[in-house]
Amino acid sequence: MIDANNNSILIGHIFTHPWHRDEFPPLNSMDKLKNGMDRLLNDPSCKRMIYLNELGVRPVARGFNIGRLLVNHALENLSNNGGSGVPSTVQLVSVQGSARFWEALGFQLEQLNLDKSEYLKKNYGLDAVFMTKYLPIKPMAHSNHYNSTNTNNNQIVKKSLILSAY
Ligand SMILES: CC(C)(COP(=O)(O)OP(=O)(O)OC[C@H]1O[C@@H](n2cnc3c(N)ncnc32)[C@H](O)[C@@H]1OP(=O)(O)O)[C@@H](O)C(=O)NCCC(=O)NCCS
Repeated sequence: MIDANNNSILIGHIFTHPWHRDEFPPLNSMDKLKNGMDRLLNDPSCKRMIYLNELGVRPVARGFNIGRLLVNHALENLSNNGGSGVPSTVQLVSVQGSARFWEALGFQLEQLNLDKSEYLKKNYGLDAVFMTKYLPIKPMAHSNHYNSTNTNNNQIVKKSLILSAY
């Protein structure tokens, strides 16, 4: 966005990274986070997803489809540039009463077991819910599937994305 003095102002951002499918990243523990990332990098049997870690649009710019554009653009970017190695499952923890926004973008509520549900409410807030969207599966580009070597796994894990809107 351009202000009265012709300066560009950041009005929104999104941050995604790979994580373990059906789990949410631990909060306030670098050790657990590092451990989880190490497993993603080194254990080919780990099931992966694209985790939408953060999305924010400045209050003044809300209601103009910027949130929707950031999410769609991030997912298209990952899908188109990541090849067959990018997970087709996208998950997030919805906070601050944003569940209806995510539903409008095609995400669905996940039922969690009691332990996970309590962890979520205790650590992310009482209205926190876990949500999932499945992207269309792309045809495999070649036979070297992403689970076949650690090198490929490392490339996938590094496919984190930060987008900003000005
Ligand atoms: C949630 C947020 C990113 C939405 O951004 P936005 O640019 O205002 O949303 P959009 O204009 O793209 O809205 C897309 C759709 O979601 C709906 N929507 C947006 N915010 C909503 C809300 N709080 N509750 C219900 N629906 C909402 C819009 O009506 C629209 O639906 P429609 O096309 O059917 O009319 C923004 O309100 C925000 O930054 N909130 C604070 C941070 C936050 O909660 N982030 C998400 C944490 S998981």
